[in-house]
Amino acid sequence: MGFLLLFLPVVLVLALKLYAKLSCGMCRCRTSMEGKVIVITGANSGIGFETAKDLARRKGRVILACRDPERGQRAADEITKMTENGDVVFRQLDLSSLDSVRRFASLINSTEKRLDVLIHNAGMSAPEGLHLTKDDLELQFATNHFGPFLLNHLLLDLMKRSAPSRIVVVSSVTHHWATLDLDNLNFEKYIRNPYWVYCSTKLANLLFVRELADRLKSTGVTVNALHPGGVRTSITRNAQWYIKYLFVPVFYFFLKDCEKGAQTTIHLAVSNDVEGISGKYFADCKEAWTSPWARNAKKAKMLWQISEKFTGIVE
Ligand SMILES: NC(=O)c1ccc[n+]([C@@H]2O[C@H](COP(=O)([O-])OP(=O)(O)OC[C@H]3O[C@@H](n4cnc5c(N)ncnc54)[C@H](OP(=O)(O)O)[C@@H]3O)[C@@H](O)[C@H]2O)c1
Repeated sequence: MGFLLLFLPVVLVLALKLYAKLSCGMCRCRTSMEGKVIVITGANSGIGFETAKDLARRKGRVILACRDPERGQRAADEITKMTENGDVVFRQLDLSSLDSVRRFASLINSTEKRLDVLIHNAGMSAPEGLHLTKDDLELQFATNHFGPFLLNHLLLDLMKRSAPSRIVVVSSVTHHWATLDLDNLNFEKYIRNPYWVYCSTKLANLLFVRELADRLKSTGVTVNALHPGGVRTSITRNAQWYIKYLFVPVFYFFLKDCEKGAQTTIHLAVSNDVEGISGKYFADCKEAWTSPWARNAKKAKMLWQISEKFTGIVE
């Protein structure tokens, strides 16, 4: 009996690991990206790096939009070496700065003839406390939602001219735990737990996709969101101790490596199976459920209007 009790947890862990392995969606599609231009944010590490590498193998022109010039250039050099694709370039973009987003978009608009795929991958989780950017935006919201919102707005005409084209937004299953207080979006009234803020930025990603898909009907541009799975990356580097030292170590064994974590992003960027599909949310390369909050059309519109104001698109 004691023997059985000792081995039961081991069997359970192995069974769960096997389930995680079998249910992990892989993009089997062999579509070539030759002649296509792809912009991917936060491509110097983690899921973004693996996604960029795969798209470079498919012979696309891959633009790595990263905030740190050294890390960005190093990633571009590594991918070039690994894939023998000489058309992988780094361009500087700090999503937490509206000026940087404008400069990056202006460079892309003036130098690229087309943009076939835009992947909003970059993301961050902030440490405890209220951190404001120089635009007076809360840091996580600026990086994970407002920056990508403005970038999308500024590159949309180019994408429409390149249609059929695709926008892919890396959200998270953690949106299920979040709500948004639209009267306190920039934490003017009170600050929430930073992890809760991270989850709400991921909910904002889904509301953005919902509204954008409606606005893009009959333009030939599609937009979809995804959860990559729990992936072994440095996304939790600023997170609270209980996430870094409790949650991650406990679940470490079940987390995906970055190559597997990139599969749903790649699927949405290249697969013929999602041709014409828009406004959906995927996990493991299959459509998945979003929270009722994320499906709320009225809230999506309200968030859109607030985001236009906060990013200076409208006065
Ligand atoms: N890992 C998971 O389990 C998981 C689960 C669900 C969703 N996600 C989402 O997956 C996406 C990729 O994250 P990851 O897990 O691959 O983590 P990661 O390795 O930390 O990658 C995040 C990337 O975003 C970049 N970034 C951060 N702030 C930026 C800014 N202000 N401007 C431009 N780029 C910035 C980072 O650049 P630096 O190197 O300069 O910091 C890095 O390249 C994120 O959106 C994350 O929310 C991850």
